[in-house]
Amino acid sequence: MYVSHDFHMRFIAFFATFLKHAEAARALLTVMDQGRSHATSINTFMHRLQKDNHTTALEFAHFRQDIDFGMDERFIDMSGFQNPFESPDFDKIAFEEDYSFIHQAVAYGFGSQTCNNILKHRRERFFEILYEDWDIYLSDSLFAICGYGMAEISGKPHVMMHSTDLEAAQGSFKGFSRNYATFVPSNLPFSMLNYTVSNYYHRVWAAYDWFGSFIFTAYVGNFAQKWALRSIIPFPYFSFAEYNRRSSFTFTDMPDSLFPPASRTNDFFSFGAYCKESSKPLDLEFKTFIEHPKSKGTILIAFGTFIDWRKAPKNYYDAFATVVNRLSEYRIIWSMKGERPPGLKKHVKTSSWVPQNQILHHNKTVLFLSHGGLKSTKEVICSATPTIFVPMFGEQTRNAWLIKEKGFARIMNKFKINVDELDTHMREVLEHPNYQQNANKFLTYYMDQPIPTLDEGAFKFNRLVKYGGKMPSHFYPKSLDLSYFTVLNVDLLIVVPIMMLYLVLK
Ligand SMILES: *[C@@H]1O[C@H](CO)[C@@H](O)[C@H](O)[C@H]1NC(C)=O
Ligand SMILES: *[C@@H]1O[C@H](CO)[C@@H](O)[C@H](O)[C@H]1NC(C)=O
Ligand SMILES: *[C@@H]1O[C@H](CO)[C@@H](O)[C@H](O)[C@H]1NC(C)=O
Repeated sequence: MYVSHDFHMRFIAFFATFLKHAEAARALLTVMDQGRSHATSINTFMHRLQKDNHTTALEFAHFRQDIDFGMDERFIDMSGFQNPFESPDFDKIAFEEDYSFIHQAVAYGFGSQTCNNILKHRRERFFEILYEDWDIYLSDSLFAICGYGMAEISGKPHVMMHSTDLEAAQGSFKGFSRNYATFVPSNLPFSMLNYTVSNYYHRVWAAYDWFGSFIFTAYVGNFAQKWALRSIIPFPYFSFAEYNRRSSFTFTDMPDSLFPPASRTNDFFSFGAYCKESSKPLDLEFKTFIEHPKSKGTILIAFGTFIDWRKAPKNYYDAFATVVNRLSEYRIIWSMKGERPPGLKKHVKTSSWVPQNQILHHNKTVLFLSHGGLKSTKEVICSATPTIFVPMFGEQTRNAWLIKEKGFARIMNKFKINVDELDTHMREVLEHPNYQQNANKFLTYYMDQPIPTLDEGAFKFNRLVKYGGKMPSHFYPKSLDLSYFTVLNVDLLIVVPIMMLYLVLK
């Protein structure tokens, strides 16, 4: 039978409209307790999904009022309970300890403690949210224990959301075949700030970090999760490795162009390489200060919401105060909570809140001192600002290292903060234009994408929804169904020694 070209075109057009108005899904994003940091890493992507008419709601254990996330709220009110993540021990870890996978397991313990309280004291609220009948669950890969439980008993598909790169343990659970020994480790120690993959000892450390993170996440952290969820998930209890393995997709906020090239499967996408426009103009108070005609440039010091200078060891504060007082040809904006300490000179402005992104984008800003959270790291890239990182915890050292490698940052060891170190680092960046040139150059690579990553991520999400939240089985790697023994080729590697042994003994 002859079918006219016109008919074909109309047929295609019909399906195109059908696909364009793809089913709008009701998605529930569950993040860690009072999870502002993780929620704001993921919400740029959520806002993009809203444009495609998906409903995105945000769930977390809520201890106190927080910012507006631009999502429907399904919080579980935990006011009156102690949030274990806000313990005074945290300041001690931030200022005085080298962060490792052991701290990560402790954090899973904190999340489990709160989830146990939810299932004991806020059980109706937990089930009320669950019974809203979501189409798909989006799970924060770190510490959102009750969120995992909700998705697990709902029987609906779930997607893993990473506020940074795919962590080594989670990547191994998902059969990514990544050789983490050849990347910079997430928990890069301060003794290895000059990490290089060609160094044997550094690779040994990277492998140690990988296996440590695997064991502490799969067994130690999971033990607490099993306990927290025992009333809704009976024996053999909740398995975090299995939960990752069965997830139908993985989205991360780590920009591909920033991270070293790494193997990936069909069910992985990084939406992270975007720049956020700052919509509001710079506050007049800051603008006047920055644009002072005598200023050689602005230096911004901002260490994120977690760090409280009042709790910093005294020598930290003293070193910073001495050095910034000396740099009187510059204008310095220092973000700190509480009262302005005495002794700071007039060219130093302190404020408990600073419009960080707008200041970074101002063309008089010449240097940023940051802790190296991923959001700040991206603002550094998008505003092309030379930076000195003073990483405190989590993957901040690794983020700092990634920018240092690109040639527009230096890293300071938090254990060695003194006037000379700080002064040397700052003068080095301020006096050498190559830091600024490298920052400009990297920004052009970063923005050079075939399709804006948020659009491509939305496309992939829509396709997932079209298939009911889980792709057909051939879409997923076979390694998900094989044991580690097979996937890591251990079975093949032992053949040769066994044959040799056989020949020798024969
Ligand atoms: C979203 O819904 C609006 C109103 O129903 C419709 O006009 C628009 O085309 C939809 N957008 C998409 C991407 O489906
Ligand atoms: C790397 O740093 C360590 C300690 O900071 C130092 O001992 C070592 O010499 C450095 N190695 C290189 C190749 O720079
Ligand atoms: C900085 O921006 C101002 C306007 O905001 C402009 O007049 C000036 O030329 C810019 N300076 C440089 C060096 O780009």
